[in-house]
Amino acid sequence: MKRVIYPGTFDPVTNGHIDIVRRASELFDEVVVTIAKNPGKTCMFSINERIEMLEESLKEFPNVLVDSFDGLVVDHAKQVGAIGIVRGLRAVSDFEYEFQMALMNRKLAGEISTILLMPHARYTYLNSTIIRNLAAFGGDVAEFVPLIVQNKLKERFISKKNPS
Ligand code: COA
Repeated sequence: MKRVIYPGTFDPVTNGHIDIVRRASELFDEVVVTIAKNPGKTCMFSINERIEMLEESLKEFPNVLVDSFDGLVVDHAKQVGAIGIVRGLRAVSDFEYEFQMALMNRKLAGEISTILLMPHARYTYLNSTIIRNLAAFGGDVAEFVPLIVQNKLKERFISKKNPS
């Protein structure tokens, strides 16, 4: 059983993340998509909302699970019995950060490999911040995120405009 984890903030999940999950799910027996805490980020959606959006968006993949944790990614990888950490590489600009993190994670746990997967070129410019900003200004995010995320973003920004 070759299990990997795919950690990220997923605030919210986008079609670019789903593209990476699909690729990983074809390569490995099981993929655990893990919402990890990035101390440098303040999130718009709670952990439970992000879990709900991920579970709904990934329900077509029978070998994909969703969970969350607060700690080192390598510790969680060990806890769930993963052999590797999947990360997406959208552009050369991602490389240095991913390279540093992969080497630090290897130093912390040499038995866990980092696997970098490239999403489809149509997703290379996407990130969660751009999606939140687009939605905040009333832009159409339908092309970039699953339906549940579109609805959550709508709810969020409508309730901000019309506080009860
Ligand atoms: N499609 C679209 N967007 C993508 C993407 C893809 N395929 N891959 C990444 N992104 C975006 C994300 O949406 C995110 O956008 P945002 O910055 O606007 O929110 C950005 O790229 C990168 O985020 P993400 O992949 O979520 O990583 P991160 O920088 O938030 O870090 C962890 C997440 C899990 C790697 C980090 O929090 C972590 O490692 N935490 C635990 C501590 C630890 O173990 N550190 C390592 C050893 S020191």
